[in-house]
Amino acid sequence: MAKKASNYLTLRESRKIIRYNLKQMKYYEKLKRRKRAAEEYTTVMRDEGNLLEIEGLKTCFFTDSGTVMSVNGVTFDVPKNKVVGVVGESGCGKSVTSLSIMQLVQAPQGQIVDGQIRFNSESLGRDEEGRKLAYDIVRMPTQEMYSIRGKDITMIFQEPMTSLNPVFTIGSQLDEVAFLMNPKATKEEAKAQSIEMLKKVGISMPEHTYDCYPHELSGGMRQRVMIAMALAGNPKLIIADEPTTALDVTIQAQILELLRELQKSQGCSIMLITHDLGVIAEMADEVVIMYAGRVIERGTAQEIFHSPLHPYTVGLQKSKPLITSKAGEPLYSIPGQVPNPINLPDTCYFRNRCDRCVQKCGEKYPPDIRVTDTHTVACWLYGEEE
Ligand SMILES: Nc1ncnc2c1ncn2[C@@H]1O[C@H](COP(=O)(O)OP(=O)(O)OP(=O)(O)O)[C@@H](O)[C@H]1O
Ligand SMILES: [Mg+2]
Repeated sequence: MAKKASNYLTLRESRKIIRYNLKQMKYYEKLKRRKRAAEEYTTVMRDEGNLLEIEGLKTCFFTDSGTVMSVNGVTFDVPKNKVVGVVGESGCGKSVTSLSIMQLVQAPQGQIVDGQIRFNSESLGRDEEGRKLAYDIVRMPTQEMYSIRGKDITMIFQEPMTSLNPVFTIGSQLDEVAFLMNPKATKEEAKAQSIEMLKKVGISMPEHTYDCYPHELSGGMRQRVMIAMALAGNPKLIIADEPTTALDVTIQAQILELLRELQKSQGCSIMLITHDLGVIAEMADEVVIMYAGRVIERGTAQEIFHSPLHPYTVGLQKSKPLITSKAGEPLYSIPGQVPNPINLPDTCYFRNRCDRCVQKCGEKYPPDIRVTDTHTVACWLYGEEE
């Protein structure tokens, strides 16, 4: 008989993984169901100028082929009134990071196993030492999460057609949000608010659109409806997960402009997820670059665009089409592939695709090296461990 390929699991290995997964899922689900006192899920902000602080976040999926470390120790901040762009190639954990913030990771196989997500809520005061209190979303019971999800933190999903219910009119879906924000509102008040929201996001015939079903609207209009829904409760943080990927370039520009205007007028923060560097250049104040579930570089938009440091960020910049590029010249693409998220090594994940490797890259995963006050990079080329 031919020798078995090494990347196939034996029956024994497969059973072992299933047993391990069941044990882990049971453990984390039990932790979630446990009654918790408010002190267990309140913490203090490191900097009160931040709206959200993510520290060492680890989210994994217990799958039949092994544990997928989708988010593997992500740390970054979202300051108040700022747009933070999160960039990275497909599968690097951008959506799982945002779902972790909303406590919407697909359970029981998906679990947040470590880290803190601190949300600077206005409703929490200060502790005895005068430090600003915050919610720790990782440890927050689901029942408590309802008080901030959809109100203080909202999300705009990538594909509006799958997020809107096809059997209800736009009006009834918007009214539902209005009732959630104000349960005592009458039907007329909810309708007036919904129409007001549709006007705000630039829909020219709001009364007509109110009675339409999602399939009767164009992609751009549906995305505007999604933005209207997200803005209904005056949120502090909007997570926009690739809000313009399904749209053509002109509509994309309009939607981005709208988001920027609303962010300025409402004074909220946006966490903008995308793999389009052009969108980031136009919108973001700060940029976080992710690779295989980790943050590899972060800094202000100026720093990331004018002095990118990590070889992956430099590669991303090079792979962007430019108006000055010569016709017929092939676009640069980073060679190789992202490593398998199961059993990731403790060395730099970009090592096999990097042309500037040093010996240290194959020995240990690089720490975050601080280059300026706002710019950090996880690469051995820029320093040693502190
Ligand atoms: N429900 C799930 N079960 C198992 N693995 C999952 C699940 N959801 C996500 N993953 C894995 O987590 C990793 C990160 O996925 P994620 O959706 O966050 O990528 P992404 O950066 O948002 O990519 P894209 O740009 O394509 O949206 C991927 O390797 C994916 O296979
Ligand atoms: Mg995604």
